[in-house]
Amino acid sequence: MDFPLKLIQLLRITNRVAALTGAGASQESGLRTFRDSQAGLWAQYKPEDLASPQAFAPLVSLESFSETSGVARDPKLIWDWYAWWREAVKGVRPNAGHYALAEIEKHISEFTIITQNVDGLHRMAGNQNVLELHGNIQRVRCSECYTFTETWGDDTESVPQCEVCGGLLRPDVVWFGESLPRDQLEAAVEASRTCEIFFSIGTSGVVQPAASLAYAARNRGAVVVEINAEATPLTPKADYFLQGKSGEILPELVKAVWG
Ligand code: OAD
Repeated sequence: MDFPLKLIQLLRITNRVAALTGAGASQESGLRTFRDSQAGLWAQYKPEDLASPQAFAPLVSLESFSETSGVARDPKLIWDWYAWWREAVKGVRPNAGHYALAEIEKHISEFTIITQNVDGLHRMAGNQNVLELHGNIQRVRCSECYTFTETWGDDTESVPQCEVCGGLLRPDVVWFGESLPRDQLEAAVEASRTCEIFFSIGTSGVVQPAASLAYAARNRGAVVVEINAEATPLTPKADYFLQGKSGEILPELVKAVWG
């Protein structure tokens, strides 16, 4: 791919870069993107029905919401879905795009990865400065007292329970309608508002508040670079749209800038 000379020159001199990543960044590792994941075993469910506190915990305070939304309350279904996903993630490795982002971190003094992915692949690839906006699927915690645990029973009938308070265990990921981890979000907003270049990589840009970070960066004068297999709502606003797979484009970009 031929990259715009201006972008190459800018990357050589810039000190502050933020990169928002989404499921597309992990696609070449063999993980389905979020919106493609409703296939096979889980085809009959909408993401909102699986990734939601209403579906998981039949709490009294959520009762009316659950009734009006029509979401099935089935904690075991949700636990099983995430257990299946957790196992799938354990078997995957970072792809060439992840490694290229780790390489970029070596050249840019303030380089922040802001990821919506819960797979932990950026850290595995070597990036140190990673903000996980939607949590991490390998962490498990109590849905009530927030105690983290690394071991739990393998009961096929029900969701494992917290050893401290007896609450249901759940993955430490953000579900629809839940708040993002405040420290991660604040750091992501700060990185977006202060960067000189903002990358949006492999994300459809439709889930807030992550989607708004590119606009926060743009409003503060950052150059916005989108890398995606397809156009998204951000594309018309991006300064550069590099269409294709991040696992191919990012290594080529690193080579063009620092090779
Ligand atoms: P999506 O599945 O919505 O979008 C994936 C994007 O990646 C699409 O725009 C694809 O065109 C693009 N894509 C696919 N393969 C690619 C590749 N190899 N290289 C580059 N781009 C590629 O995933 P996200 O935008 O990450 O949130 O979804 C955001 C959030 O929505 C998820 O974190 C999840 C979901 O609701 C929660 O669970 C809270």
